[in-house]
Amino acid sequence: MRILRTIAETRAAVAELRARGCTVGLVATMGALHEGHLSLVRAARSRCDAVIATIFVNPLQFGPNEDFSKYPRTFETDCAMLEREGVDLLFAPEPAEMYPPGTSTVVEVQGLQDRLDGQSRPGHFRGVATVVAKLFHIVGPNQAFFGQKDAAQVANLRRMVRDLNFPLELVVCPIVREPDGLAMSSRNRYLSPEDRRHALALRRALRAVEDRIAAGVRGAAPLIEAGLAVMAAEAGVRVEYFRIVDPDTLEDLPDVSRGALIVVAAWVGPARLIDNVLVESRN
Ligand code: PAJ
Repeated sequence: MRILRTIAETRAAVAELRARGCTVGLVATMGALHEGHLSLVRAARSRCDAVIATIFVNPLQFGPNEDFSKYPRTFETDCAMLEREGVDLLFAPEPAEMYPPGTSTVVEVQGLQDRLDGQSRPGHFRGVATVVAKLFHIVGPNQAFFGQKDAAQVANLRRMVRDLNFPLELVVCPIVREPDGLAMSSRNRYLSPEDRRHALALRRALRAVEDRIAAGVRGAAPLIEAGLAVMAAEAGVRVEYFRIVDPDTLEDLPDVSRGALIVVAAWVGPARLIDNVLVESRN
């Protein structure tokens, strides 16, 4: 695996692959890798001739009081994991390479960027869309792989790809969970053993909603109430949102009969955690 630090080197390395006729898959990450990230790498491996991963803790997507400086950085182990998965290229730039002084252009997905996490984290999706647009331009992948774990991120990026005519396919991969159901996240490292137990409330709340849907409930209001009741019963969990939305527009839905995305965000100890489940349309 070649480690690339500059945009120029990365463009040259990808051009070489292209000249050999390889299709290229991109897996963008902020490092502190876990099985969720590796599932994206494996999906890319199985669908593309060459895989390029990126590790960049993107300052633009963190708010002033968020965890940018504390965000886990585990570069050596990340490299070993990517190498084992057969990644060809790793682009890991410094912030100054991505945002040289005078940088003043951003990408905004108007409307969508302010929903769900965008509401409590103003500017977050502007940061995500901007860095991902830059990575798409630098790498020019045929396919780019993202996790359903970050459902609002997927909605923003899908819209950006459509609106800005990026010539690539966005591939969305399922949420990878710990054996007890907790969605894997780099931020799970912030959890104490006690927080870790409380954190299961997110998955349990989503399950409670799924059970009620299976039992015939369709209205969003009673479903949300059921989810919130599970969250409220768990000490040490502060809900930020629990909603039932359209997966493309992220707007609230009155019921789940045409399919829906059920999303939750909550603070557990020092960590802000998110989880979701997609439900199919039913009568
Ligand atoms: P990061 O949180 O490192 O996640 C990188 C990718 O891994 C994202 O597409 C995310 O959805 C996916 N992922 C994380 N946990 C997952 C899980 N449990 N199961 C499946 N996929 C999972 O998301 C970002 O970084 C950044 O916003 C980024 C897109 C890199 C832009 O900076």
